[in-house]
Amino acid sequence: MNKLLFPLSLLAALLVYSCTKPGEPAQGSLVPILPETEYNYRDVVPEEMSFMGQIPYTGENIDETVTLGRVLFYDKKISFNNKTACASCHLQSNGFADKSAFSEGFQFVETPRNSMTIVNTAWTGPYFWDQRAEILEDQVLMPIENHIEMGIDDVEKLIVKIEALDYYKPLFGKAYGSEEITVERISIALADFMRAIVSYRAKFDEGQDSNFANFNPLEMEGKELFEGEMQCSSCHNGPHFRGWGSANIGLDMVYADQGQGDWQQGMDGWFKIPSLRNVAVTGPYMHDGRFATLDDVLNHYSTGIEDHPELDFRLRNNFGKWGDPDVPVEAIKMNMTSHEKDALKAFLMTLTDHELLNDERYSDPFQMVSN
Ligand code: HEC
Ligand code: HEC
Repeated sequence: MNKLLFPLSLLAALLVYSCTKPGEPAQGSLVPILPETEYNYRDVVPEEMSFMGQIPYTGENIDETVTLGRVLFYDKKISFNNKTACASCHLQSNGFADKSAFSEGFQFVETPRNSMTIVNTAWTGPYFWDQRAEILEDQVLMPIENHIEMGIDDVEKLIVKIEALDYYKPLFGKAYGSEEITVERISIALADFMRAIVSYRAKFDEGQDSNFANFNPLEMEGKELFEGEMQCSSCHNGPHFRGWGSANIGLDMVYADQGQGDWQQGMDGWFKIPSLRNVAVTGPYMHDGRFATLDDVLNHYSTGIEDHPELDFRLRNNFGKWGDPDVPVEAIKMNMTSHEKDALKAFLMTLTDHELLNDERYSDPFQMVSN
């Protein structure tokens, strides 16, 4: 799809570009309104939550660099048509994922995959559904360069666009000590803003210290199923419920999108194990957004897992019982009762971090002011 779209979108992009004077933003009166003193992003994760790990920021002036990243993240004027920002597909209210299965990019062409949550990305690399990007700095410029997502085919043109917006120079100055705008500075700021978005205030987190005394019986039962009988945590584990690596979870016998198989042999249908933080609000689910609800997801794990030749071993019947000839190796059927599904759902909902979804440090700073 990318290959076909490329020449077409390049042409369209050039047309759009030549019709928009770079110095003249389409919505001239939308400007970022920022707090007088920068928010504190350095200490986003309080000490008692240090099991999350320190945020590995790249910038030196952290608060100022992240502030710049926040503005870039919400700025529609840095896309080719002045209409698409990172935030168009990564909505704070949806756990920084998108509401639709495929997100609409700058030319109203859909992305071939479902937008992903970007919380806790400081620790959840490699990035993208097919894990093709190792570090965030690389990753954050890909959407801008990607013709479907934001339509800037040449990052140097991005610099021209940013230079023409007068609110940027002081922001670069504060972040980096000089007002020079470079590709590297843009990517560090965006990547550091991503890193600053940390989800750690969910009911689940609050329960850590009291052995989950704050959970009701259904949530507790769900937690036990998640970690025990249903073995969800064999993949979705650790503080980010992301675990490590990728897996083929038997969505199809033949995948339309091979995921990691596109660039690695023997990994057809393997996709990044996504973080389940805020999963109640990040639907639709899976790399192609095929499931609208958590019920659909649980039905898949319960009875829908296909015996794909590359199905992950953890989703086969003999997982944990190797060598036992009486245990068949085919795709597992968890056969969840409706009560078990309710319990799992109740547990998944304890991962919603309502404070994060409303935290103004990550919110859209742009406001319409009259000229
Ligand atoms: C048109 C929609 C769209 C726009 C605009 C967009 N993204 Fe994305 N984003 C996606 C999709 C879809 C994916 C998954 C893509 C894939 O796996 O191929 C994604 C993946 C990501 C990831 C990887 C997350 C992970 O856990 O692996 C990060 C980080 C990210 N985007 C940041 C950004 C930033 C920063 C911007 C702005 C510069 C941006 N996105 C703009 C749709 C979008
Ligand atoms: C073998 C590893 C593995 C196991 C075990 C596993 N998952 Fe997953 N899970 C994944 C992968 C990989 C994806 C993404 C697959 C895709 O998009 O193709 C995923 C996706 C999901 C999603 C969708 C998230 C999103 O943002 O789209 C949910 C919800 C989920 N899993 C819940 C569960 C539950 C509940 C269990 C236990 C019943 C479970 N998983 C067991 C690997 C696993």
